[in-house]
Amino acid sequence: MSCTVAIGAQWGDEGKAKMIDYLTRDMDIVARYQGGANAGHTVVVDDKKFVFHLIPSGILHEDKVCIIGNGVVLDPVELLEEIALLQKKGYDIKHRLIISDCAHFILPYHKAIDSLMENFSDEKIGTTMRGIGPCYSDKCLRIGIRTGDIFDIETLERRVTAALKIKNQQLEKIYGEPPFTFDEIMEILLEFKEKAGSMVVNTQEYLHNAIKDGKGILLEGAQGHALDIDHGTYPYVTSSSPTIGGALLGSGLNAFDIDNVIGITKAYVTRVGEGPFPTEADEDDSERLRVNGNEFGSTTGRPRRCGWFDLPLMKRAIQINGMNQLAITKLDVLTGFEKIKICIGYDLKGGRADNICPSKFSKVKPIFIEMDGWEENISKCRSFADLPKNAQDYLNFIEDELNVPITYISVGPGRDYTFKK
Ligand code: IMP
Repeated sequence: MSCTVAIGAQWGDEGKAKMIDYLTRDMDIVARYQGGANAGHTVVVDDKKFVFHLIPSGILHEDKVCIIGNGVVLDPVELLEEIALLQKKGYDIKHRLIISDCAHFILPYHKAIDSLMENFSDEKIGTTMRGIGPCYSDKCLRIGIRTGDIFDIETLERRVTAALKIKNQQLEKIYGEPPFTFDEIMEILLEFKEKAGSMVVNTQEYLHNAIKDGKGILLEGAQGHALDIDHGTYPYVTSSSPTIGGALLGSGLNAFDIDNVIGITKAYVTRVGEGPFPTEADEDDSERLRVNGNEFGSTTGRPRRCGWFDLPLMKRAIQINGMNQLAITKLDVLTGFEKIKICIGYDLKGGRADNICPSKFSKVKPIFIEMDGWEENISKCRSFADLPKNAQDYLNFIEDELNVPITYISVGPGRDYTFKK
């Protein structure tokens, strides 16, 4: 078997969850490697919609093991709710969900500081306010609390006391907010220990043993390439690495373990929150894409900004992540557009700047070409040959320009709307 990484190639929300649900059929294990409950991964099965924020999107396959890797920042309250919801819907997941003992907890002070910072700052990022940035900051500052800490009460109490000393100073002195008490933090952690402690293991070791045993592993990224803390549109990014480096870091696997990197991309582009977006469409087209594609955040409900397919952005994502396959989702959303724009390059002050650093995207103008659209309803197409000629031309053009095969196409939300090219 092999190890495949699935990475969002744009600014997140590329339809990763439904592709991961689809790809899981051929895998034994699905492991999330970064991010936290900022993600909203939607899977539709038999017209039932599931939104996962922390649990890997392969969980609906009853015979697969799902892992929350060491690179994830884990909100214990959110995770227990997600587990309970799945159990209520009849999914018995306790014996096949495992959690890294090195993942960091997101605690109430992280969420409080996330929204306080957003509200205080003159340069808003537009975060999901799920405590992601503050938690990863604490990880780097070495004042984070890790899942494995729950097994040694003395250490846990010491670490919570030390973290609170710093966090409460920050809350009171900078923001004039009330402190969190030791007891309220411990209560959350002890409840997590009681209800989910048995799932916490050394997942790095588990994954390496699985590789030795020839198991099929799918590493699931959250957010997307252009939201990467290093490679994205900094500072308008998330605080982790959705890119290939993050997959290794957040799972403990090594570069030689990886066989495939699938870049998942919409047939157009969206982004939520602040930050530059070269191919953002005009108001009419953006609204039309938003309505057709139901482009509202699954975590925050915010309307997503919508725009046209961006080849330079994709080329960079392919280069940095080593994507050797592409999955194109939501092709059906483009149905009915007489003309479909594609950005083939960027203009910077009259010259081409296709490889410009994404943090300078606000300075470029997209160079568009237009292709003919199609009117036919494509949601019943189940092969490339079923697609109207103009849709085939659109995909062939993208494939030729990117020089990477499109291996999967999806034309609707449900499990059976995806097919191999
Ligand atoms: P944070 O990850 O909550 O800190 O938010 C930082 C930026 O990443 C904001 O622009 C968010 O809108 C964006 N973001 C975070 N998670 C997602 C996601 O799952 N999909 C799309 N955008 C996201």
